[in-house]
Amino acid sequence: MMKIGILIGSLSQKSYSRKIAQFIVNSFPNIAFMELNYRQLSLYDPDLEVTNCPINWQAFRLAIRKFNALLFVTPEYNYSIPGGLKNALDILSGADTEDLLIDKPTMIITDSSGNRGGLIANLQLQQVLRMLGMRVFNNEVTLSKVQELFNDQDELIDQSSRDFLIANVTEFYDFIKHT
Ligand SMILES: Cc1cc2nc3c(=O)[nH]c(=O)nc-3n(C[C@H](O)[C@H](O)[C@H](O)COP(=O)(O)O)c2cc1C
Repeated sequence: MMKIGILIGSLSQKSYSRKIAQFIVNSFPNIAFMELNYRQLSLYDPDLEVTNCPINWQAFRLAIRKFNALLFVTPEYNYSIPGGLKNALDILSGADTEDLLIDKPTMIITDSSGNRGGLIANLQLQQVLRMLGMRVFNNEVTLSKVQELFNDQDELIDQSSRDFLIANVTEFYDFIKHT
């Protein structure tokens, strides 16, 4: 079974990004999704690599190897990606991680409460992931006015958003298989 690790850009328990991820997990029972929770990672410091590499960095780096692909679901924060997510990516690019992300397929979904669906963060994250050597799925998957898309039970009720996400994840699935 294909394994996809999910990184959610928001740490909020009420996060819309998390609800979007949950919709995808529920919609694709043929894929083994697992969230990679990076909340506990300490701030990246190159000085620690050689003598005192934090165990949480080592565990995170090892965990990444288990997945065929990574899916990012993140809001835009101040025209960029949230700092915690960037810190997690910096940790994956540190020493002894040369081949960790090389050619690993990845898809980005951004969302925002405004009209652009976090497009600026989406493009910036594409750039970071390409820099890390990942195979980035090219579609810009963005959801605008995300607070209007769910009901009180956290279900995605907007049909065009449901269709849009399912079509893109299906395409991503084929993209991974042709790696
Ligand atoms: C610190 C912060 C910065 C934000 N910056 C932007 C922004 O630059 N552009 C934007 O469209 N929305 C911005 N927003 C609004 C988010 O898009 C919106 O709150 C989104 O629902 C947060 O994602 P979440 O529900 O997954 O936590 C910002 C929100 C926060 C908390």
